[in-house]
This record gives sequence, structure tokens and C-alpha cells, in this order.
Amino acid sequence: MADALPICLLNGVLVPSNEARISPFDRGFLFGDGIYEVVPCYGGKPFRLQAHFDRMQAGLDAIGIANPYQPEHWNELVRELITANGGGDLGIYIEITRGPEAGRDFLPQPDTTPTAFGFCWRLTATRADQLERGFSAATLDDIRWLRCDIKSVALLGPVMLRMEAKRRGADEAILIRNEYLAEGSSSAVCIVKDGRVVTPPPSQTRLPSITRLVVGEVVNALGLPLDVREVHLRELYSTDEIWIASSTREAIPITQIDGRAVGNGKPGTIWRRVFDEFQAFKKRES
Ligand code: PDD
Repeated sequence: MADALPICLLNGVLVPSNEARISPFDRGFLFGDGIYEVVPCYGGKPFRLQAHFDRMQAGLDAIGIANPYQPEHWNELVRELITANGGGDLGIYIEITRGPEAGRDFLPQPDTTPTAFGFCWRLTATRADQLERGFSAATLDDIRWLRCDIKSVALLGPVMLRMEAKRRGADEAILIRNEYLAEGSSSAVCIVKDGRVVTPPPSQTRLPSITRLVVGEVVNALGLPLDVREVHLRELYSTDEIWIASSTREAIPITQIDGRAVGNGKPGTIWRRVFDEFQAFKKRES
């Protein structure tokens, strides 16, 4: 785990991370009633920040929480958070909950003031030897709810799934719903078969991953064919490459699934090209 950096953001004010306090009556604490985002930041500049704000707004709209700040104000707050913690490569976490109430009622009160929280940590690039070896995944039944397109702070499902993946000796859980690939427990998934990159389409049971979009742009820039379609569980066992993608991990290769080798058991040649071009995208935008 990467520790939180010393300064965080609470309700629009920079405060020392170890002094930040919220009420235990906050609906985020009592009900998991809130939305979050994780934004990568390279060289002091947030990467694809607007896309993250747009997804956060869509989540807030879906659950009826008013965004406490306009986009320009959010931009300013994120800039302040980055500067206060010395810039560089960071993971930035933002959370908006429905806020604290006087007691506990499933039905929210109409006048509750949302709580806004942000903190960051040093983002370290995946080590070269890990990339050389690749990562492992276990397929597990997707036990989460039916609105995984909402980036809800209620994450008990993914927590249980990651614990089960670890128990099976795997780095990530690849989730299967009705025999088809959903996504990773905290990542999007792409496969490569016969030179074609394949990724499942957006749906209410998948988070619309920003990194997946960037990977799509990278694949297009490389002139590789990209198919957006459902992927059957069987395909995962016979495919040439599997990648997982997220804001904190970029796109990394899965070389073992359920104890079996993916392709030749080594990170694939297409992944390597995508990884290099992804670095070029980052450099260009930061
Ligand atoms: N999670 N799917 C799920 C379920 C996720 O939790 C994530 C990311 C993704 C990838 O989305 P993006 O490319 O926008 O990061 C897909 C973040 C990193 C997290 O919860 O920490």
C-alpha cells in the first residue's frame, strides 16, 4: 500500500491528512452512500482529468447527490492538492458522499450537505521485472450488484473478490457474469486473439474505464484492429494475451489465468507495443 501524502482536501480546504475528521453519521460511512474517482497524475499534471470529472458527475447524477463544486473549482482544488504534496507522479483519490445527517434513515434527507474528500499518494511505476514476468488472475463469479457503471464507494464485493483471488495465489480477480467476462475486481480487461484486440462493450455491469478508452486510442494509433464485443469465459483460456487496465496500473499483462499459461506464458508482443505507446501518450499529455 502506498501511504497517503501529508496534505489532504476536506470540504474545499487543505488540511494535514492525519488531522482530517468527518462525522460517523456521514452517509458515506453508514450506507456507502457516495461516489469516488481515482485519477493518475504524471509530472504534476492530472491525466484525463475531465473524463474522470465527467464520470464522477454521471455517478452523482445517477444517485441524486449535488456536486458541491463547479468543474473549474474542482480543477483548482485538485491543482492545490497536487502542489501542496510536491507534485510528481501521484494517484489522486476524490470522494463525494451524501454527507452527515442527525441519525440513520435509508431515505436521505433533502437538505443534507455533501462531504468532499481528496487525498493522494506517490504513484510508482510497475517494476520492470514484474512487467517481464506478468501477473496472475483467478476467474471468479461476479457477486457485485447490477449498477457497476456507478463508481460507488460501497466496495464490499470487490474487497471480498480480491481477498479470494489472493487466497488462490492470484494478483487480480477477473469477474465472470453468466459465463461472460465482466471486468477485473478493480480493472478493465482486454484480450488479444490472432492479432485483434478485444474488449467488452460498456454496460450497467461494468465501470466505464478511462484507461480502457486510452488503451483503445493507443491501439488505434498503432493501427491495430480493435473489436468491442462480449468475451466468453472459454475464450479467456485460449486467447493469446490478456491485459488488465486501470488508472493506477495503466495496462499490464496477465500471463497466468486460473493456474494456466496465457498464450506462451509471457507478456505478449502486442501488449509490449501498447505499453510503449501508452508511455508516449503520457509524456505528450503531461
Ligand atoms: N478502479 N473496473 C473497476 C471495477 C474498477 O474499480 C476500475 C478502477 C476500473 C478501471 O477504471 P479506470 O481505468 O477509469 O481507472 C474498471 C480504481 C483504480 C480504484 O478503484 O482504485
